[in-house]
Amino acid sequence: MGYARTKKISFERELNVKMKRILTGDRPTGRLHIGHYFGSLKTRLELQENPNYDPYILIADVQALTDNFNNPEKVRKNVREVAIDYLSVGIDPNKTTIYIQSMIPETAELTVYYSNLVTIARLERNPTVKTEIAQKKDIFGESVTYGFLGYPVSQAADITTFEGEIVPVGEDQLPLIEQCREIVRKFNSIYGEVLKEPKALLSNAKRIKGLDGNEKMGKSLGNAIYLSDSEEEITKKVMSAITDPNRIKKDDLGNPDICMVAYYHNLFTSKEDVKAVCEECKAGKRGCVACKKQLAKNIIDTLQPIREKRAYYEAHPEEVDKILQEGTEKARKVAKETMKKVKKAMKLDYFD
Ligand code: TRP
Ligand code: SF4
Repeated sequence: MGYARTKKISFERELNVKMKRILTGDRPTGRLHIGHYFGSLKTRLELQENPNYDPYILIADVQALTDNFNNPEKVRKNVREVAIDYLSVGIDPNKTTIYIQSMIPETAELTVYYSNLVTIARLERNPTVKTEIAQKKDIFGESVTYGFLGYPVSQAADITTFEGEIVPVGEDQLPLIEQCREIVRKFNSIYGEVLKEPKALLSNAKRIKGLDGNEKMGKSLGNAIYLSDSEEEITKKVMSAITDPNRIKKDDLGNPDICMVAYYHNLFTSKEDVKAVCEECKAGKRGCVACKKQLAKNIIDTLQPIREKRAYYEAHPEEVDKILQEGTEKARKVAKETMKKVKKAMKLDYFD
């Protein structure tokens, strides 16, 4: 018996009575790391326990292809990796519907209709897209593709296909939600009040810095600890983390405020122990190597249950596929209902 199948679906959840639909998602471009864990996964775990919500998580393979169109293998492989990451941290398919974006053609269809309601200038002004285009000169050169520039339109379709009312996001995603709201308002003003305007739920989770002190933890930056990292990999990475550069000898007085090891102790170590770490560091009574070893052990221990579940799902790929397939089938039903309403409003319901 698998991990995912043990909980009973609550009656209310099954009927979707008075539940607000929540939509979130990730681009499957790499495995998830502890930045994702503290940034979005923890919030999702809490939300799936709330009986007022009906959460959907999409694995955004279509969106991943907008800047990885020449690497379909990478996207394909990471769809399953990301799904396993979700299941390993405790996303429960009986409570959260996990689905694959490309398997919902209704979303692509809706994207086409929405594209009439957005100007190119407006897309070019979207701060998230603007920043990303600037970072992706190696892919796009001086002229970005139609698909990438338009991904906010497809993201608006992701959300509204499911009548998502709440979209928990990080700050960087706010302009995308705003753009979605604009599209919805425009649609409703032309075709009638059909769509729900979603609200962003800004997570209070903070962004986790990288091992090198960079403000962002990311694959391309090579400064991340992955949920799937082995004990050896975690230890190796922690040993390379940036510490207070002024500390050379053990009795040099240290400053934990500028040390990444102390920063991660705050996330993985008990309050009392963090206090001891900081006091001993400041007093020059703590060696950095021992300090790092203690941290590595705490990270390993914290991620242990996640690693165990991951091993289970890696050994049972058919179970992961089944979960994705069932989630996608359920999502498709909802999408079809929405599309019916949309097409009726747009006078495209020819043979109904
Ligand atoms: N843009 C999101 C990201 O990069 C992924 C995403 C795609 C998404 N569609 C979505 C998030 C809909 C929330 C709602 O992480
Ligand atoms: Fe950082 Fe610990 Fe070294 Fe202090 S003792 S600088 S907290 S690694």
